[in-house]
Amino acid sequence: MKKIKISPSILSADFSQLGNEIKRLEQAGADMIHVDVMDGHFVPNLTIGPPVIKSLKKYTSILFDVHLMISPVHKYIEDFSNAGADIITIHPEATENLESSINKIKELKKKAGVSLNPETKLELISDILNKIDLVLIMSVNPGFGGQKFMPEVLEKVKKLKQIKDKMGFNFDIEIDGGINFDNCKLAINAGANILVSGTTIFKSNDGDIKKNIELLKSN
Ligand code: DX5
Ligand code: ZN
Repeated sequence: MKKIKISPSILSADFSQLGNEIKRLEQAGADMIHVDVMDGHFVPNLTIGPPVIKSLKKYTSILFDVHLMISPVHKYIEDFSNAGADIITIHPEATENLESSINKIKELKKKAGVSLNPETKLELISDILNKIDLVLIMSVNPGFGGQKFMPEVLEKVKKLKQIKDKMGFNFDIEIDGGINFDNCKLAINAGANILVSGTTIFKSNDGDIKKNIELLKSN
């Protein structure tokens, strides 16, 4: 059983203090930093790009778990790699050739992740499961923090975990969207070993991020 890791989403952080927020997250016990990159095209929201990621790297030594909700994504992979992304997660719908985009990430010596929206079927990525380091299961439709968890995706997590165990694959299973203290145990029991959380970590318990990270980990 893999250790449960917490990847706080900085989408819910104070964007005027991102460097300090990232430092706070590391000190509060975050295992990695989930950076939501949005282009206003693949998703109806716009956030940050490589220059901001590059400037944030000096604030922490923990991994940058970069979730690219951008399309087309292939031509930007190298920019995010050079900016300091450690894990680069892309959506299959955002590239013409998923395998070649995964190969590009691996050539750059970064961990390769693939993210599935709630309505995207596992079958879309079954051929590349042996090549990737992480599958990011979306439990909301991507674009915004603070949305309601979609419990129907837990079946997809369970099925993915069964395939992983049966085939002896070693990729991480990360779940992202609406994760809170009530549903995190369901996600872990379904097979997720990395929890992304923005709102619950930054807004619960008067913003006590250390307590919130510990509560998510201890479930
Ligand atoms: C949504 C992002 C998620 C989101 C999580 O498109 O990919 O990472 O920021 O935020 P919460 O935990 O508030 O749903
Ligand atoms: Zn995300």
